[in-house]
Amino acid sequence: MSTNIVWHQHKITRAERAHNKNQKPCLLWFTGLSGSGKSTIANALDVALHERGYHTFLLDGDNVRHGLNKDLGFSDADRVENIRRIGEVSKLFTDAGLIVLSAFISPFTSDRRMVRNLFPAGEFIEVFMDTPLETCEQRDPKGLYEKARAGQIKHFTGIDSPYESPERPEVRLDTSIMGVEQCIDHLIGYLLQRGLIF
Ligand code: PPS
Repeated sequence: MSTNIVWHQHKITRAERAHNKNQKPCLLWFTGLSGSGKSTIANALDVALHERGYHTFLLDGDNVRHGLNKDLGFSDADRVENIRRIGEVSKLFTDAGLIVLSAFISPFTSDRRMVRNLFPAGEFIEVFMDTPLETCEQRDPKGLYEKARAGQIKHFTGIDSPYESPERPEVRLDTSIMGVEQCIDHLIGYLLQRGLIF
């Protein structure tokens, strides 16, 4: 941390920015294996909320790795830094009053906890895409599991790199048994029930 820097208190609060949109700032953190449905569900929720007039923003693993995090690979240390930066960026967007949807494998419990700790209680919603590895591997939408099994990709999550499942996620979705609409209904219901949208 640099020295001689002072935090500036802004005049408009994050709550005020959000209230104009009938929402509270929050972060839905989608975690799960490659192919578990993170991007699909986060995108569908983004559309559903946008259509209802809410102000959202979606951050997605592959996209962020094209820009902000293009210097990072898939070693444990790089994944930690990836999630640290995304956590901070997500925080900035919630400070702008938005509902943020972040979809990253985020395989390590300690990193997800670090992001959770950036937020006031109730604003960080961990959405565990609890789709079994067998289903993810059968789907293999990018052909990455096949390459990982063939040894062409090293440190692939679920194959030769670990995924630590959340123990007490706020929301758990298994897309091997739940359709997209059912997942979206569940998530919107959660946001309404918690008063995060109104
Ligand atoms: S992490 O673990 O949170 O830092 O990963 P993330 O930033 O979400 O990036 C995951 C996407 O990168 C592709 N990819 C890999 N994933 C896992 N392990 C390895 N080794 C790997 N190499 C490339 C893959 O397309 C992931 O996208 P999703 O959407 O999860 O399938």
